[in-house]
Amino acid sequence: MTQPPGEPDTVGSLTAATRPHTKPAPVPEGAVMVIVKIARFNPDNDRGSYWESFRVPALPTDRMLNLLIYIKSYLDGTLTFRRSCAHGICGSDAMQINGINRLACKILLKDLLPRDGAPTTITIAPLRSLPVEKDLIVNMEPFFNLYREIKPYLITYGPAPERERLQSPADRARFDDTTKCILCACCTSSCPVYWAEKTYYGPAAFVNAHRFIFDSRDHGAAERLEILNDIDGVWRCRTTFNCTQACPRGIQVTKAITEVKRALMFTR
Ligand code: SF4
Ligand code: SF4
Ligand code: FES
Repeated sequence: MTQPPGEPDTVGSLTAATRPHTKPAPVPEGAVMVIVKIARFNPDNDRGSYWESFRVPALPTDRMLNLLIYIKSYLDGTLTFRRSCAHGICGSDAMQINGINRLACKILLKDLLPRDGAPTTITIAPLRSLPVEKDLIVNMEPFFNLYREIKPYLITYGPAPERERLQSPADRARFDDTTKCILCACCTSSCPVYWAEKTYYGPAAFVNAHRFIFDSRDHGAAERLEILNDIDGVWRCRTTFNCTQACPRGIQVTKAITEVKRALMFTR
């Protein structure tokens, strides 16, 4: 499959009205007109990605996902993107919105509108540094392969308890923040180290390693720390905080990475 460049290479001027399968588009009362400029790529037809703009009537309280659904429903049925829950839980609609990694279902149009009421153009592109399959869909397998490397599951040795594995509230609180990860890849695809080196495990893998390393019921900390100590592990992190800023779940990603580094320094 052709891998498009990271940035679209032409500015498209196609209008939605020229597209097939269009239906009469409703205009909600109180709507403002925005230009949504989307990086398009169809591996069957295109040698590279290009920008295409759509005029979309939308309410300031609409989520960006609503605008994408509007485009797909009324302007161009070929527009391709992932989404599932539409409530910030599944992590499937991560994309660059105005150059920042976000979940389309969490960001409201009003948060992107200029205060002076000037006409708005919003750019939407796929996550950076993952292979684009079509339009806004990236291949997540390279991301999940790195995640699997750190053994993101409970490891226990010895006989299983007769009932559940007990844990105090304080022990549970130790890794509460990193349980919130939804594997959206916003962090890893915003990491400059990952941009440069695709074997770097990346912040999402570190967050999920942290979730188990600091779980008092888990016995696999030593083997995970061994993995995180290697050349693609936490020592490559440059503490730039891109990952923390990108995380739609508000996880203190860089802090978690620092705690893993400390564990490596003080447990051996
Ligand atoms: S803090 Fe580390 S892991 Fe996070 S974006 Fe920066 S270099 Fe990448
Ligand atoms: S740490 Fe945050 S940004 Fe990274 S994959 Fe998990 S939820 Fe997404
Ligand atoms: S659609 Fe599930 S997080 Fe946005």
